[in-house]
Parts: sequence; structure tokens; C-alpha cells
Amino acid sequence: SKGDYRHYMQKEIFEQPSVIQAVLEGRLSGSSVLVESFGPDAQVLFQKTRQVHIIACGTSYHAAMVARYWLERYACVPVQVEVASEYRYRHPVVPEGSLFVTLSQSGETADTLAALRFAKTLGYVGTLAICNVPGSSLVRESDMTLMTRAGPEIGVASTKAFTTQLVALMLLTLSVSKAKGQEEHASIVEALQTLSSVCEQALALDSQIEQLSQAFAEKHHALFLGRGAHYPIALEGALKLKEISYIHAEAYPAGELKHGPLALVDSEMPVISVAPNDDLLEKLKSNLQEVRARGGQLFVFADKNVGIKPEDNIQVIELPHIHEALAPLLYTLPLQLLSYHVAVLKGTDVDQPRNLAKSVTVE
Ligand code: F6R
Repeated sequence: SKGDYRHYMQKEIFEQPSVIQAVLEGRLSGSSVLVESFGPDAQVLFQKTRQVHIIACGTSYHAAMVARYWLERYACVPVQVEVASEYRYRHPVVPEGSLFVTLSQSGETADTLAALRFAKTLGYVGTLAICNVPGSSLVRESDMTLMTRAGPEIGVASTKAFTTQLVALMLLTLSVSKAKGQEEHASIVEALQTLSSVCEQALALDSQIEQLSQAFAEKHHALFLGRGAHYPIALEGALKLKEISYIHAEAYPAGELKHGPLALVDSEMPVISVAPNDDLLEKLKSNLQEVRARGGQLFVFADKNVGIKPEDNIQVIELPHIHEALAPLLYTLPLQLLSYHVAVLKGTDVDQPRNLAKSVTVE
């Protein structure tokens, strides 16, 4: 049931602090990750892993894109990420020592399942499914599984399934690094242990974000910007807005702005940007000035320590400080809340957007 919430999506957004605890439960020990969370063969398979291919659809694909930044940076393994409906019709070249990973909330997405079946003929060292539904086809047919424990997700627009996938992917990153005898990344493990409470603080911005949503209700387009691991978060923010409020939204890595999309920016185009305190911040700030100089209306979700100040045409929503590695998780939440409130204002069917189904079991 929805309890005190108006929509399932809203309930599922607010469940995130507790399901983030659930996905971590029993999978960390002290300042280290427990590699065996991925099953008895994980240690050996991760040791052999020299690159990773991750396949998924939709929101799950955006989680895969974040994992690419994490696995390359913290586990030093090259990663390829692709949507399942493209992968399965290509002729993929699979170098020795490749691990095949699928991500799926339902575990029944037709293209993802077909990609797994195809991959099994291609000589991967093993297959791993990160999935939310126990006993689903994807889980039954993979060598290793990690359940995301988000509980049933009823809203068609995925929220808690996405953030728990991200936590699972960070556990994967730390496990591959550890199995290969690299760093244990104790500071990230520690940050994971406080993640749930930091997310709670971000959700407390709800009424501030609700106010902000009024600026979007009459708009027909929106642009989302992010850099690095926050580019996929910008993509996910744009997808949520499209799905439930039917506002056309696009996401760009901020550095691409001047290569085309800047032509779209005028006072009618809200631009949403995620600005965590990372080494790309200074670059991002200059991208934001490019928008401002064209009269664009900016909405910046920023680390409270970075000192981006509200000015004419710039609204700043300050987020709590978080370990750089986990920032993509945190910055997802205000974007979910934003699209939720815009959809409520527009009066669309938040939980069951037109033309969409929760589980896409057709190709
Ligand atoms: C978007 C959304 C979809 C799913 C996609 C894959 O909010 O929910 O894009 O993410 O259909 O579904 P799963 O993860 O079940 O394979």
C-alpha cells in the first residue's frame, strides 16, 4: 500500500535510505567488502577478470554507465557498457578474461535476457546478474548474482531500484579491486556506512524542490548537465522528467555544450546541473557561465562546500557533503524529487505514465 504517500513513486523515493541499508547488509566487514557476497566462485572469477562488459536497458543502463567510471578508476579494469537491444545484434569481440554483467530491476527484460543468452556463447569468464527480483530468469541463468533488495517497485519510473543498483555496483567495484589484490578503498567503505543517513538529509530538501518545480510546469524543454560519473546522473534526471511529466528533456556532458546544444539555450530553457565537489567542478563552473551568458535559467544542485552562489538566473540547491565516489548516488535523489513534483503539478499519471510498462518482456 502507499501508506501516507500520494503515489507509489513518492513512497519509493523516500524508501531509499532504508533499502540502501538493506543492500549493504552483511556485505561489508569493518573497512572492507566481502567478495563472497557475489557467491562462492566470485573470488576466482574476479581474479581472472581483465575487463568487464555491462549490458542493461533504460534506467538500469544509466547505472551501468556510472559503474564504468567506478570500475576504471577504483578497480583499474577497462569497461564497456551497452544497451541490450544493440549489444545482442552486434558481433562483439570478447577479449580473454572478460566478465559479463547484466543489470535489471525485473530480471525479465526481454533484450537483457537475450543478451545474456547470447553472451554465454561468446567465451566470457563468467556472468553476473545484479537484479531486484529473486528467482527471475536473469538470476536463474547467471553464474553469479547479487540481489539489490529494494523490495517491490510499483511505480513504472524506476527510483529505488536504480540507487540500490548503484550501491551493488560499488560493491562490485570494491570486490574486483580486492580480489585482484589491489587497494581495499577503506574510505569508500566507510562512506557507504553513512550513505543512508546522508540520503535522508538530501530527501529533507523535498519542500524546497517542490517550490522549484513550479518553474518547470509550463516549460516544454529542459537540459540536464553533468560531468564524469554525473553525466549518467544527468541522463537519468532527464529520463525521469520525460517519463512522468512528458517534458522533453536532454542530457549532455557539460563539456559538449559548446559543440551544439548551446544554440538551444535562451530564457525559455531551464538548465539543471549537478555540481558535486570533485575535480571537474572548476570546468563545470565555466560551462555554467556559458549558459548564464545566454540568458538561460540555471538550477544547480551543488555540494554545500563548493560556494556556488545564487545570482540572477541561478538557483542553487545545496546538498550535504559526501565522499566523491558516492556523489552520483546522492545527486540522483533531488532529480527524482524534481521530476516527481513537476509531474504532480502537471497532473499526469505519476505511477503509470502513458505508453509505458513496468516490465518490458517484448523485444
Ligand atoms: C525507467 C525504467 C525503465 C527500466 C528498463 C529496464 O524509469 O524503469 O527504463 O529501467 O525498462 O528494466 P529492468 O531494469 O527491469 O531490466
